[in-house]
Amino acid sequence: MSVNAKTTLCGIIGLPVDHSMSPAIHNAAYQELGLNYVYLAFNVTNVEHAICGMQALNIRGFSVTMPHKLEVMKYLDEIDPVAQQIGAVNTVVNDDGHLVGHNTDWQGFIRALKHRTQIQNKNVVLLGAGGAARAIAFGIKQEHGQLTILNRREEIEMAESLAADVHCSFGDLKDADVIQHADIIIQATSVGMAPLQHVDVIDIKLLQSNQIVFDIVYNPMHTKLLKAAKQIGCTVIPGFEMLLLQGVIQFELWTGRDAPVEIMRDVLVARLAK
Ligand SMILES: NC(=O)c1ccc[n+]([C@@H]2O[C@H](COP(=O)([O-])OP(=O)(O)OC[C@H]3O[C@@H](n4cnc5c(N)ncnc54)[C@H](OP(=O)(O)O)[C@@H]3O)[C@@H](O)[C@H]2O)c1
Repeated sequence: MSVNAKTTLCGIIGLPVDHSMSPAIHNAAYQELGLNYVYLAFNVTNVEHAICGMQALNIRGFSVTMPHKLEVMKYLDEIDPVAQQIGAVNTVVNDDGHLVGHNTDWQGFIRALKHRTQIQNKNVVLLGAGGAARAIAFGIKQEHGQLTILNRREEIEMAESLAADVHCSFGDLKDADVIQHADIIIQATSVGMAPLQHVDVIDIKLLQSNQIVFDIVYNPMHTKLLKAAKQIGCTVIPGFEMLLLQGVIQFELWTGRDAPVEIMRDVLVARLAK
């Protein structure tokens, strides 16, 4: 469908956004369903002005990426309760001038995990206590998983602080007993991604064949941890599933339609394989 006077605009705001994969993924999805939408990328320094512009120009939706996920919250009319607890918004929906903030990172993560397993009452071990881990921790609690957060011993207060916010246990990455007894292990540190692609975040020998291992790092698509876990016989989930499904949920929020997930997956995989 070609762009015309009735085209609905969505986009991504961040700094920088020049390498964002979102325009390719969303535009392919609009095209597949014949929707008169277009998705653009905006390098934004002044978040307040960008949000004013969104309202003034009736832009339907924004993806929000670093460094604006916290600041954008100040300029919205309403924030989804879990996004509020996490303290970060990555999606804005403009409903006739009423701006609602969501966090589809945790939603995409949970949807990807629930494709493989139930979460309720499972022993879930989360490696890392940074921004992504924070969104995932609230998601796991939302689904009533039994959560333990492990971080580096030198930065154990990060795990302690996040554990206090979500009311769960915490420890350090060398806690063999916790790792061995997990049903689900979620790798949410920067390990696995360059320049840490050859580092082991935990002792691989502790993995059990009945465990589910979800590594949220998506570049490379199959990390060292995932390759080792697969060899042991674990069920593995790569990080691009989370990346894909958070975009799928954005598509649903903005269009009210079921997303063409396979088309979006093909575009994402092709981009990541480059
Ligand atoms: N799949 C997706 O959709 C998705 C979404 C968001 C993020 N991610 C990926 O998730 C990863 C983390 O992102 P983030 O935004 O949470 O980053 P972040 O806020 O900077 O947090 C980084 C985390 O990694 C830990 N870490 C860094 N180097 C480490 C090392 N050598 N050994 C052990 N732990 C180490 C940090 O621990 P300390 O506290 O000890 O420093 C911290 O817990 C990135 O690779 C990112 O690309 C994926």
